Amino acid sequence: MSGRLALGVLASGRGSNFQAIVDEIEAGRLHAEIRVLVVDNPDAYALERAQKHSIPAVHVSPQGFPSKDAFFCAIADELKTRGVELVVLAGFMRIVRKPLIEAYPYRIMNIHPALLPSFPGLHGQRQAVEYGVKISGCTVHFVDEGMDTGPVIIQAAVPVSSDDSEETLSERILRMEHRIFPEAIRLYAEGRLRVEGRVVRIDGYGLRDERVVNPPLR
Ligand code: GAR
Repeated sequence: MSGRLALGVLASGRGSNFQAIVDEIEAGRLHAEIRVLVVDNPDAYALERAQKHSIPAVHVSPQGFPSKDAFFCAIADELKTRGVELVVLAGFMRIVRKPLIEAYPYRIMNIHPALLPSFPGLHGQRQAVEYGVKISGCTVHFVDEGMDTGPVIIQAAVPVSSDDSEETLSERILRMEHRIFPEAIRLYAEGRLRVEGRVVRIDGYGLRDERVVNPPLR
């Protein structure tokens, strides 16, 4: 890919992952541009972040459509109109439906706050604390029609202490999310991801390459 990768970001709330992507782009470490931020919630703090960085943002309300499919069709139209090549779900709290998945096959990435396939769905961090696992983490994966079931791109491990609450573990996982999400987008932008079945092959990453599990701190 020669030009900048055109991104469309979907978010529902705080938008710290959105911010991490913006920061990597502005620091010149991610060769991409955000064409649009789409939120499903008019109060999402991500909107203020977009405004601060002069990134176009739109609110698409699910209430304005007769069905979930129609809502996702409208989002797909918005993204296509703006020339988006890769869709990034940065804390977007809805299950993506067929019209968007078919518009962007293997071109939608999601960040999940657990080591999939453990603890899919809502509150991945709470599920990990309640289960008592000693290691959790986060996963960036391509989106398919299931809930958090698509091919895994990068994962990072995070230790869990028996003293952890949902909040303390969430904070520790979030710091790692902010590292691996831009890294996964960078790999895509560099044309280094290949999906074979449900396995994502990363050109230039060896089997024992630690960056796959824990990317380098900058
Ligand atoms: C993040 O922890 C993300 O992994 C999670 O929501 C949070 C959004 O934070 N996403 C999911 O649970 C998706 N099922 P942010 O708005 O600050 O990026």
